[in-house]
Amino acid sequence: MTTFWSWYISLLTIGSIVALIWLIYATRKGQRNDTTDQTLGHAFDGIEEYDNPLPRWWFMLFVATIVFAIGYLILYPGLGNYRGILPGYENGWTGVAQWEKEIARADEAYGPLYARFSAMSVAEVSEDQQALQMGARLFASNCALCHGSDARGAYGFPNLTNDDWLWGGDPDTIKTTILKGRQGAMPGWSQTLGEEGIRHVAGYVRSLSGLQNPDNIEINLERGQEIYTTNCAVCHGPDGTGTQAMGAPNLTNRYWLYGSSFAQVQQTLRYGRNGHMPAQEHILGEDKVHVLAAYVYSLSRQDSAE
Ligand code: HEC
Ligand code: HEC
Repeated sequence: MTTFWSWYISLLTIGSIVALIWLIYATRKGQRNDTTDQTLGHAFDGIEEYDNPLPRWWFMLFVATIVFAIGYLILYPGLGNYRGILPGYENGWTGVAQWEKEIARADEAYGPLYARFSAMSVAEVSEDQQALQMGARLFASNCALCHGSDARGAYGFPNLTNDDWLWGGDPDTIKTTILKGRQGAMPGWSQTLGEEGIRHVAGYVRSLSGLQNPDNIEINLERGQEIYTTNCAVCHGPDGTGTQAMGAPNLTNRYWLYGSSFAQVQQTLRYGRNGHMPAQEHILGEDKVHVLAAYVYSLSRQDSAE
């Protein structure tokens, strides 16, 4: 800021404060201290105005706001180029400086903890109460928006608390998933199979998990199985139990990422699906991912132990 504007702002601000101080004292001077029932003679809809001073607490409130303003202007930057004298900020307070200070403080407090956990295996960390508390906090602020605050997922976002895994549920695989991210690649089949083929194979796939197909739709399960063996078994396995190396889900259980209704399964088959798990390596860093992997691993084990 140029010197001119710096002085302009400073004088205007200080001038206003001085004017306000003068105003509250000038209007108070000469006023009686006791209350009276004498009115000023104004009446508004039958309400009359008394000639009484402001209540004391009210007056003190005005004084307090002025004292606060002066204190604030001394401590914080605000008056033109003046930087303030807030302790701990040599170059004046800024939001960035405060944020950096907080990061440094957190690193100091948690650095040794993260270092200790990093030296342990994910499975070992998953037994540590303190690590699990840290993991829960990290999960709430970084993962819950997609996987839900209870980690039970939602349409398109997998449930992390059960033992059904797209990519694998052992501690190291979970860590790799979080660190590097994952990209699900289920192709669309409209072109290859046509509506009829999709109908049969959708019916067949639903029958794998014991779902009843709608009566009013003509579905040939044998035809569906043939189509499945030719086109789908490469990824989902000959028996439909999935292939974790490709993130191809198990189609024989009751867990569905994109819905189990006949219409939803057809939709999956027509257009394909491409779930994307964002890599956290450069967002959270390895130390935090290590703790998160342990947390997710502990969640999945709670449920399977039930
Ligand atoms: C190239 C490998 C591949 C082939 C071939 C393939 N799929 Fe998939 N399929 C996947 C992957 C990967 C997913 C998970 C997509 C995601 O995570 O977004 C998936 C998802 C699905 C789903 C959704 C499951 C759910 O939980 O909602 C169904 C149903 C499905 N596939 C059926 C089939 C059928 C039927 C065929 C054959 C016509 C087939 N897939 C062929 C890889 C494949
Ligand atoms: C933008 C949404 C999004 C965020 C944020 C997100 N995830 Fe995911 N995550 C997904 C999706 C979508 C998948 C499924 C990928 C697929 O279809 O193959 C997934 C898959 C996973 C899997 C694999 C599940 C399995 O069955 O193999 C794990 C583990 C996981 N996420 C953990 C996390 C953790 C821990 C965080 C927080 C750091 C996180 N995710 C943040 C969307 C997200």
